[in-house]
Amino acid sequence: MRLEEKVAIITGAGSGIAKNIAFRFAKEGCAVICADIKGEEETAAKINEAGGRALAIKSDVSSLNSWEELLKKTIDEFGTVNILCNIAGISEAVDIVDLTEEQFDNMINVNLKGVFFGMKVVLPELVKNGYGKIINIASLAAHVGLTGLPSYSASKGGVISLSRQVAMDYADQNIQINVVSPGIIETPILANNPPEVTKAFTDATPIGRLGKPDEIGNMVLFLASEESDFVTGQAIKVDGGWGSK
Ligand SMILES: NC(=O)c1ccc[n+]([C@@H]2O[C@H](COP(=O)([O-])OP(=O)(O)OC[C@H]3O[C@@H](n4cnc5c(N)ncnc54)[C@H](O)[C@@H]3O)[C@@H](O)[C@H]2O)c1
Repeated sequence: MRLEEKVAIITGAGSGIAKNIAFRFAKEGCAVICADIKGEEETAAKINEAGGRALAIKSDVSSLNSWEELLKKTIDEFGTVNILCNIAGISEAVDIVDLTEEQFDNMINVNLKGVFFGMKVVLPELVKNGYGKIINIASLAAHVGLTGLPSYSASKGGVISLSRQVAMDYADQNIQINVVSPGIIETPILANNPPEVTKAFTDATPIGRLGKPDEIGNMVLFLASEESDFVTGQAIKVDGGWGSK
């Protein structure tokens, strides 16, 4: 059991990568808060049926109030929090000339401000415990020049810079903060991109296929466990070699 007696908040747990992480963490002995704007009952119910510990909480990462409620409910149920996984995110492919201010703001509010709020609200609890792990999800799009994703790439680039900075601020308090940057992973979010964009990205992946949520879960689990205690401030690409070309 790599996360025995730990408590994790996982945002976006209703789907894709975060849902996989919730199941993986629960199997490792972790109590998991399945947070999602859709109100994620199914993931939490399955974990509880299998003998794990989980609580579903409807929450919006782009709202500070929602984060404060999420932390309160987490502490009421499990007493504390040790691990924060900021996984929730949205994606949209719109050329910059056509991109509206509202679309840009919405992307930044969910993908970047959501990570800011999460760290702002949860870090004091980690400091109190003298130990903690934060894993934020960026994207390959933050590392290389892709096409058609200006607002998404900007939001994810912000996640990397923000995380690296905060990691340095808390490095001497036994709190490790890292980023995982997935390549193209087989989840429902891909439906937001035109199929030809997904195909072009897949064809350009050196390993020659889409990644699986489990392959992101492997890295997130490592970064959440004590095995990564000497790793902080990193943005680790799990992308089938894309970002190294
Ligand atoms: N799938 C990929 O190819 C890929 C590649 C790189 C990065 N990512 C990133 O990985 C993360 C997870 O993506 P996924 O592929 O699992 O997507 P997904 O669409 O399957 O899941 C995203 C989840 O986030 C939730 N969500 C959206 N807005 C929210 C909000 N405001 N508050 C709370 N929850 C909200 C959704 O309801 C959904 O359940 C995202 O941050 C995404 O940008 C995915």
